[in-house]
Amino acid sequence: MIKRIQDMDVTNKRVLLRCDFNVPVKEGKILDDSKIIASLQTIEYLIKKGSKVIILSHFGKVKTEADKETNTLAPVADRLQELLNKPVIFSKQPRSLYLEAKIDSMQPGDVILLENTRFEDIPNKLESECDPQLSMYWAGLADVFCLDAFGSAHRKHASTYGVAEYLPNCIGFLVQQEIEMLDKYVLQGEHPFTIVMGGAKVEDKVSLIEALLPKCDHLLVTGGIANSLLYTLGFNVGSSLCTKDPEIIARLKTILVQNKNKIVLPTDVIVGRSYEASYIKHINYTEITNDDIIGDIGMNTVNEFTKIINESQTVFVNGTAGKYEENEYATGTRELLTNIANAKCKKVAGGGDGVSAIKKFNLGEKFTYLSTGGGATLEYIINNGHLPAIDNIETVEEL
Ligand code: 3PG
Repeated sequence: MIKRIQDMDVTNKRVLLRCDFNVPVKEGKILDDSKIIASLQTIEYLIKKGSKVIILSHFGKVKTEADKETNTLAPVADRLQELLNKPVIFSKQPRSLYLEAKIDSMQPGDVILLENTRFEDIPNKLESECDPQLSMYWAGLADVFCLDAFGSAHRKHASTYGVAEYLPNCIGFLVQQEIEMLDKYVLQGEHPFTIVMGGAKVEDKVSLIEALLPKCDHLLVTGGIANSLLYTLGFNVGSSLCTKDPEIIARLKTILVQNKNKIVLPTDVIVGRSYEASYIKHINYTEITNDDIIGDIGMNTVNEFTKIINESQTVFVNGTAGKYEENEYATGTRELLTNIANAKCKKVAGGGDGVSAIKKFNLGEKFTYLSTGGGATLEYIINNGHLPAIDNIETVEEL
């Protein structure tokens, strides 16, 4: 059995805790703090045990020096402080003499949050390429490592994977909960198993789609991924988001040929034109013209998808059906998610956008489980419950 935080002596120990605080932030304001709330159980447990809690997290991608300005965890430190109702020390660098001195002066129950681990990706991708020196540096700050970043457990990075090589280690309460719920309701869930997938860029998801298809009975596709599949079939998708990359198109063709009974595409859409905001039309997918931009699915598609959902025992949602943040394109996502929420099956969602939309439409209570993972949850399903950072944690004999 994987070693859990409850199996470990953490009293008065320095505990390096990897959380996933990669939350949506706009103009310095956190739009959804669910991932921070989801880590509180482990943090509060450690505080009670008198541990010195040293928290690591990434935040967005850091590819240039300029990215450091926008991708700071400072707003997360403030929010965490409010939620814990106690001071949280914030180290403006993920590696510094200041940080080391601060940790030396920490008292039992104190909490410190280090700046975005991906600052260490400049210039040599030390975090993302799991550099052993960096892993050793972070490990050297603590006595114990606890992995509670389920949403990042598919990343073999220094802060998720590397540090566990150099410290006694365990998983926190959030990772335990994710494993339990995803195993019960998705991996061991009943068939027919339907995946509802949206999202903008097909490039990011083509490998996932290839790997997910053997696991499910139906794949209902919307968003930019559906546009690219329609384009692959020879339909005009106008100026909509869509890949033209010949290699990806070739892979999509194979996917479509091999899974023609599994993949279901939209049959009607809502289109607009970016230069003419009032131009909003509901049309059939065969009527799209060159200037049209697909922003949502139409109600015929919602109804066709709902029939399949109502015959399913398990439904997994990843992504949204359209640009639901804008009122004129919100109906498809709202109606489809409402119908999923009201279906009798087990329904689980994972991934930032889909889960945010579920919350926005107040449907969270009706879902069986909302995972904090996006890519991690999809890879967990594909790899039958295995993710690199979780697999790297010690095991203990089951009593
Ligand atoms: C997520 O938001 O899915 C996780 O935090 C992982 O983020 P990443 O894809 O940037 O590694």
